[in-house]
Amino acid sequence: MSQYQIAVIVGSLRKDSLNKKLANAIVKLAPSEFSFQQLQIDDLPLYNQDDDEQQAAAVKRLKNEVTAAQGLLFVTPEYNRSIPGVLKNALDHASRPYGQNAWAGKPAGVIGASIGAIGTAMAQQHLRNILAYLDVPTLGQPEAFIHVREGLFDSAGNIGTESKEFLQTWMDQYVAWVKKHVN
Ligand SMILES: Cc1cc2nc3c(=O)[nH]c(=O)nc-3n(C[C@H](O)[C@H](O)[C@H](O)COP(=O)(O)O)c2cc1C
Repeated sequence: MSQYQIAVIVGSLRKDSLNKKLANAIVKLAPSEFSFQQLQIDDLPLYNQDDDEQQAAAVKRLKNEVTAAQGLLFVTPEYNRSIPGVLKNALDHASRPYGQNAWAGKPAGVIGASIGAIGTAMAQQHLRNILAYLDVPTLGQPEAFIHVREGLFDSAGNIGTESKEFLQTWMDQYVAWVKKHVN
């Protein structure tokens, strides 16, 4: 078993999501002591505080998976200059009931890709705001606002040559960040 298990949360449910593709490609840049599991969030009910004392099975699963992970990796699109509702829904679910926030203390990386010029910058800032409140130490630098253009991925779905160096640096920093908080 890998020494560091990372829970990956992708903010898009779309089958052909660019962010899913980005998540699948960047995890290949990590060392073998790291393993990554994408968490399912599309079967979570809409968050309702009335259900806090009897959380749905899908919510309990999410919380258990987050608790078991040594680190978090958020890969998100930007929807209307913020994060998608499905991602906020997942964040809210695993933060409750009050006092049982599963995210707390887990080192995290934030990255996202968009066809828009600012490459999810505003969504990432909104996400960082939420993560700060949830007591999640989040890698500050380098920031990675990925503007999707021809060549970002190669034909095998790996990161293309032009972006490889930057994203390798990003992953190296992320790996160091997780190790710093776990060890
Ligand atoms: C509801 C909605 C809102 C969007 N708002 C933004 C936005 O604020 N900024 C942006 O750069 N792209 C925006 N987009 C375009 C997305 O970047 C694009 O659809 C992207 O492919 C979504 O990520 P995905 O491929 O991982 O699903 C929006 C798309 C949708 C469906």
